[in-house]
Amino acid sequence: MKIDVVTIFPEYLDPLRHALLGKAIEKDLLAVDVHDLRHWATDVHKSVDDSPFGGGPGMVMKPEVWGPALDSVAAGTAAGTRLDSSLPHLDRPRHDELAGEAAASVAPQGAQQPVLIVPTPAGKPFTQRDAQELSREQHLVFACGRYEGIDQRVIDDAARRYHVREVSIGDYVLIGGEVAVLVIAEAVVRLIPGVLGNRRSHEEDSFSDGLLEGPSYTKPRVWRELEVPEVLTSGNHGLVDRWRREQSLARTWARRPELLETAPLDQADRAFLEQLRAAESADAPSTPQP
Ligand code: ADE
Repeated sequence: MKIDVVTIFPEYLDPLRHALLGKAIEKDLLAVDVHDLRHWATDVHKSVDDSPFGGGPGMVMKPEVWGPALDSVAAGTAAGTRLDSSLPHLDRPRHDELAGEAAASVAPQGAQQPVLIVPTPAGKPFTQRDAQELSREQHLVFACGRYEGIDQRVIDDAARRYHVREVSIGDYVLIGGEVAVLVIAEAVVRLIPGVLGNRRSHEEDSFSDGLLEGPSYTKPRVWRELEVPEVLTSGNHGLVDRWRREQSLARTWARRPELLETAPLDQADRAFLEQLRAAESADAPSTPQP
């Protein structure tokens, strides 16, 4: 996968070199180029924003700067800074020295229309399903807005050469899109085959089956007088699986009950949820009589 990020704060994207994403870069499954938007600014002050038409607070990012930036990133002619993995290099040739199998793992650009992701609090909520879909793309371009956002014509024009998605990572307002890019990129890249060592670990993620994941435990069996649930040390895999499923159902019911409306549930799940509801109504204080 190729990721391009256009931003006025290139250094904000440095975390993409570390940990899991650094490993994906090191394995040639990912290449990340970061572009400074000011490179496309034309005036002496390198300004990227202006006051909004119609008045109001804040500044809007200029179309004459964003337009050429997104054109050259889509065309693959923008010279950004290639992020190098922060991890100790593996004992293998670098991507640019390779021909053949490993080089092909960072997909060639141009085969598909790139996806332009514009993080904004006014976007569609980003979900695990979006992360799964995006993990199958070859080329993602992130446009980081600041201030009051980017002139809407930039997004409308970009739709002529990109699949455009305006996405929000939650119902709160950040100063700009950079942190949202870190969130989205991490959620997407970990799903690229070969990035995570153990495939099961993302097949069992929260949300993969429409439910929240239940609690996990490791050694020691007793810690600060708190014991690991006995079933987990029973060696009975059937019981362990059922217990995990019920923990997942109970947690979802308590924290995100709306997810139960769409999660695929079997008869045993429904019976368990019925028990939870019955236990809750038995515990609830009776309504005071007028
Ligand atoms: N930019 C500012 N706030 C944001 C949010 N909540 N999600 C995505 N991008 C943003």
